[in-house]
Amino acid sequence: MRRTIIAIAVVLVVGAVGTAAVSQKPWLPRPDVVQPIPFSHRIHAGLHHIPCQYCHEYARRSPTSGVPPVQRCIGCHGTLAQKGALTPVTRPWTDHKGAPLEIRWNRVYTLPDFVRFAHFPHIHAGIACQSCHGPVETMDRVVPVYEINMGFCLNCHAQKRASTDCVTCHY
Ligand code: HEC
Ligand code: HEC
Ligand code: HEC
Ligand code: HEC
Ligand code: HEC
Repeated sequence: MRRTIIAIAVVLVVGAVGTAAVSQKPWLPRPDVVQPIPFSHRIHAGLHHIPCQYCHEYARRSPTSGVPPVQRCIGCHGTLAQKGALTPVTRPWTDHKGAPLEIRWNRVYTLPDFVRFAHFPHIHAGIACQSCHGPVETMDRVVPVYEINMGFCLNCHAQKRASTDCVTCHY
């Protein structure tokens, strides 16, 4: 009898942990995102040292970092002589002449609606992009390095003496 109960308890506990491990949190950063244009951070931010905030210009003054408008790409690629660089970038708008062009990038990082997050206080506090996004300048395709969960946020907040009140991050 006792053995059966223990056996059942073990099955239940293993089952619960297993469920927790496989159950998807839909907001976790995605490692498998494919973009419409094979844009490479390694080439732009790494090899050519283009500063992160040249393209993600909103990071320091707004909640979101944003992705650059196509005009920012054209700024360089409209004049860049290299065929290899020009063709893949210009194809979307030379194919649809006249139409206002927008590249629909797919998101790697998201947070659930019940979390309050803003980039600017972090940038102002001198936190490097890489502390949360990893060495993006070495990546051909953006892949998450850290699982951005509550523990990840809280660890650093405790370390840097930033607020750990629930309402700081939750509505
Ligand atoms: C030349 C412009 C450019 C530069 C410079 C640049 N980025 Fe980006 N970044 C983009 C574009 C375009 C995307 C969307 C496509 C993609 O995910 O690769 C993006 C996407 C990202 C994403 C993924 C966002 C998401 O959730 O989908 C992160 C994180 C990021 N950049 C961080 C950085 C960091 C950190 C640097 C500096 C080391 C940097 N970027 C430099 C253009 C740039
Ligand atoms: C500050 C200038 C600059 C900006 C802004 C810029 N690029 Fe580039 N891009 C470059 C340079 C330099 C290269 C490398 C060219 C080479 O080595 O042949 C490059 C290369 C590329 C390549 C080819 C990579 C390969 O495999 O050879 C693609 C695709 C590309 N860029 C897309 C984009 C897109 C999309 C944007 C806008 C989100 C953008 N670039 C913004 C300068 C820029
Ligand atoms: C404290 C951690 C942290 C730092 C530092 C940070 N990010 Fe983010 N970033 C995030 C989180 C979390 C998200 C997802 C936000 C969401 O879904 O609301 C995100 C999203 C993004 C996105 C997707 C588009 C957007 O605006 O939501 C880009 C691009 C990005 N970050 C670039 C950067 C760049 C560039 C820097 C440095 C200038 C930077 N991040 C610094 C945590 C951080
Ligand atoms: C690498 C360290 C680090 C990480 C990771 C981090 N933060 Fe922060 N956060 C800070 C610092 C430092 C401040 C600035 C505190 C200040 O200005 O007093 C801050 C400020 C904030 C603020 C503004 C607080 C205020 O009082 O206005 C919010 C909201 C916030 N963080 C949410 C988050 C969330 C949500 C996450 C996880 C997705 C996160 N942070 C991850 C270091 C971090
Ligand atoms: C520094 C930011 C931060 C603070 C402070 C914070 N949280 Fe969170 N919390 C998050 C983030 C980010 C998530 C979503 C990511 C995840 O799955 O962990 C989250 C998720 C949660 C969840 C949902 C967990 C799940 O698995 O679905 C609960 C419940 C929660 N927080 C409660 C709290 C309570 C209670 C406090 C105060 C004691 C608190 N949080 C303080 C950032 C924070």
